[in-house]
Amino acid sequence: SSFFQQKMQLKGKKALVTAGPTYEAIDPVRFIGNHSSGKMGYALAEELANRGAEVVLISGPVSLKPNSQNIQLIKVTAAEEMYNQCMKHAQDYDIAIMSAAVADYTPLQKAEEKIKKSSSELEIKLKKTKDILASLGNLKTDKQILVGFALETVDEEQYALKKLEEKNADMIILNSLKDEGAGFGKDTNKITLFKKGGEKMTYPTKSKELVAKDIVDSIIEMVHSIWP
Ligand code: CTP
Ligand code: CA
Repeated sequence: SSFFQQKMQLKGKKALVTAGPTYEAIDPVRFIGNHSSGKMGYALAEELANRGAEVVLISGPVSLKPNSQNIQLIKVTAAEEMYNQCMKHAQDYDIAIMSAAVADYTPLQKAEEKIKKSSSELEIKLKKTKDILASLGNLKTDKQILVGFALETVDEEQYALKKLEEKNADMIILNSLKDEGAGFGKDTNKITLFKKGGEKMTYPTKSKELVAKDIVDSIIEMVHSIWP
């Protein structure tokens, strides 16, 4: 399709994207976090906006800034805030892509004051966070497209398919860690897409901007069959 057609593909559609890490507070000065840079999620938000979508980008703490006017940025810190913001938009998105590296566990309690060092060992009890992708999967209508990521170190395909099924997603994007150019903090990524219905697509290593184009193309291909 022409550049103009491509630009308009998602006109009038709403997209929800999560990006970056979450920080789970231990005390007023410490947190449990991860190395997610947010680059993949921000690239996806830009690509969706470039195709004409109105994008809500819910982002954990990263240093990136969105460029497009069509991106509404909502900054959050912890997994629970990210969950609450996503739930506010659960009814009104057409496409949701969950690319955030959400903490799976958060401290049971946040200490009011800075924890002082004392004994030689310290235990911090953690509790499971809510799964945002699975929660959106529960609420999903048949007109909404829900996409998640999977990061695995063993049995990649098997776990990716399990996530597709258990979270009621339409597509899971497997990040290949085996590839040198892929993953956290890098500017490139290597992905395999698993679609509901069994289709599997593998792509070569590319810049995260080009990976975002591949993902959005693949989503647009899917929506042809469900949107009038
Ligand atoms: N995810 C989420 N909310 C969470 C945890 C994960 O929305 N509390 C989403 C991620 O954004 C991603 C997908 O679920 O789109 C898979 O995340 P991943 O960490 O690979 O899998 P988990 O389901 O958390 O399982 P595990 O870490 O044990 O592999
Ligand atoms: Ca996880």
